[in-house]
Amino acid sequence: MREKHKIIGSPVSRIEGHLKVTGKAAYAAEFSFPHLMYGFPVQSTITAGEIKSIDVIAAERSPGVLKIITHHNALKLMPRPPVTHANRMTRSNPVLQNTRIHCFGQYIGLVVAETYEQARFAARLVKVSYKTERPKIDFDENLKDAYKPEILNAGHPTDTSWGDLESGLKQSAEILSETYNTPIEQHNPMEPHATIAFFEGERLTVYESTQILGTTKEAIANTFNIPKENIQVLAPFIGGGFGSKLQPREHLMLTVMAAKMLNRPVKTAITRQMMQTNVGLRQHNRQKVRIGTEKDGKLLALSHEIVTHTSVDEEFIEQSGAISRMMYEVPNSLVTHRVFTTNIQVPRWTRAPGETPGSFALESAMDEMAHRLKIDPIEFRTKNEPSVNPENKKPWASRSVIECMRMGAEKFGWNMRNSEPMSTRNGRWLVGYGMASASRGAPCREASARVKITNSNKNIRARIELAATDIGTGSYTIIAQVAAERLGLPVEKIKVIIGDSDLPPTPGSGGSWGAGTYTNAVDAVCEKAKNELLGKSKIKFVNEPGITELMKAAALNEYQTEGSVKPSEESEKYSHFSFGAHFAEVWVDESLGIVKIPRFTSAIAAGTILNEKTARSQIISGVVWGIGQALTEESVLDKRYGNYVTRTFADYHVPVNLDIGNIEVYFLHEEDKTINRLGVKGVGELGITSVAATIANAIFNATGKRIRDLPITPDKLL
Ligand code: MOS
Repeated sequence: MREKHKIIGSPVSRIEGHLKVTGKAAYAAEFSFPHLMYGFPVQSTITAGEIKSIDVIAAERSPGVLKIITHHNALKLMPRPPVTHANRMTRSNPVLQNTRIHCFGQYIGLVVAETYEQARFAARLVKVSYKTERPKIDFDENLKDAYKPEILNAGHPTDTSWGDLESGLKQSAEILSETYNTPIEQHNPMEPHATIAFFEGERLTVYESTQILGTTKEAIANTFNIPKENIQVLAPFIGGGFGSKLQPREHLMLTVMAAKMLNRPVKTAITRQMMQTNVGLRQHNRQKVRIGTEKDGKLLALSHEIVTHTSVDEEFIEQSGAISRMMYEVPNSLVTHRVFTTNIQVPRWTRAPGETPGSFALESAMDEMAHRLKIDPIEFRTKNEPSVNPENKKPWASRSVIECMRMGAEKFGWNMRNSEPMSTRNGRWLVGYGMASASRGAPCREASARVKITNSNKNIRARIELAATDIGTGSYTIIAQVAAERLGLPVEKIKVIIGDSDLPPTPGSGGSWGAGTYTNAVDAVCEKAKNELLGKSKIKFVNEPGITELMKAAALNEYQTEGSVKPSEESEKYSHFSFGAHFAEVWVDESLGIVKIPRFTSAIAAGTILNEKTARSQIISGVVWGIGQALTEESVLDKRYGNYVTRTFADYHVPVNLDIGNIEVYFLHEEDKTINRLGVKGVGELGITSVAATIANAIFNATGKRIRDLPITPDKLL
């Protein structure tokens, strides 16, 4: 399918936008039901040890309190099987089954009351005594226990190598060996996690802020040992996910348990502070990178060795070295991941897991090497462009890194850069330019969709139904656009119903697969509907008919059908990644160390861009978090007690409007003929990748200071 699109690609405003800005779009915590009760979690105030006793007498006497659930009276849940790649999101996630404490803030109870305030107040009256153990918190102290994990997130191999790194380094004219640190980062979507759960007989209904409806349903089924057919998960609107809402969290299981025990609807909305302790984090990655090159800049050796931490409770390791396996052509390569356990909460997917910290190390090191070689960073990268994916030798379905670097350089004005650090000033500000190239895997998955077409008084409308989610990304809109394009109807005639697990299944929004997967399922079902109607029609059409003509020809007032897509065998022969190049201008106050980023330019190649407006917003939002990663975001733990020093927005600093300058996004025209019929690659996670390196590289150009430990706070620049 390579015909010209009319509606796909156009910057249609979000079809649900009006509902959102008028407050009519209901998020998980905003639904209300008769006899609704409110849950509020009780959290551990220690980091490692055992609960000795819990005294709930005062809390139980508190006004409005209906139930206090602790390990004493909790329902018995299914034990948790060992984590595998396949069961990570769906396995049983039991809560309150024992007295063990493995991290600070762990939920150890749930207070259920008639109002939220009553539940929250009573939670403070629960008295807990503990047997405290010394927590494992400090990175350097626990490093010695690092081991080689079996497998990384998303099934990436722990270690890879080809050629011989050491001999490659020996042959090299220039060698760089540096260590980069990226800190613990927290999830701060606009909508904190929330759940409402209620049983009607055997049937369980759950409103949950989740990225994936199907896995949420399965995890509940596996935890409570109930048939998944009896569970409906609803999430019509979601205020951001970023990976924190990929896997059903403990607050959900607490809420379902309370609903079952009390046989009334229960709502649990977690607090902003709980977002720092209970929804997964991006772990601290320590990354050693070695690069060896010939005099002319041809890479001879590249290694990326990572050590990170996981929880004593579960192994989760992001694939921070994966980007170094595929980004550049190099004859001698070594990429390894090691991990040690701590009493820090379990790490989780955090926007572009792996690429975000990994690209900081790799793309900073590439910039350092280019500087040493006195080669322009774009030229250095261009010289080492791989013709196939170096990791698996599969051809690229599409790879436009060089084109992105060229386009970005031109739009940004890269030729104005002075490669000599500290050579450009504007009053008290040192001015610098930096760039980095970016990549992110572009997976596509199996999904289904249903189309219902109605013809009432010659008014043809279509309704598209699938168990997709819109986590703020624009799923509603791109689904409507593809249906409109395929059916030959205006966007206004398409009704999109998503956010309900009873609808045809999809893999949800995650891993940058949402847009491509949803829209290809919609494309497929619309094609199917048209073909089926054509089969029923007695008319022979000269030109391809739209749905209006087909319904008329088939003499039908109503028609519905279901269809599905899955990645083709042909597409599996190729490597699928989205690519881009970022450029930043930074201003650094020489005496205060303050960094400003007045301009940031991204050039993006991600196949068919479904909607210029929503795709642009995706990239901008990725850049914004990348700026946070580069300059301010860091979760700090007290090494002695394992609690958080940074507990709120007051001390965990996310970028705000004043921190953000002008972000320009340019999409390169790119046709990917193999990934899927529409040629869509994801953009959701590409935007953040390499942003921190771009900024660090620009800061080096401004100041001559190479900062290898994020975030680049003013103290590091003085
Ligand atoms: Mo993404 S970190 O798979 O939401």
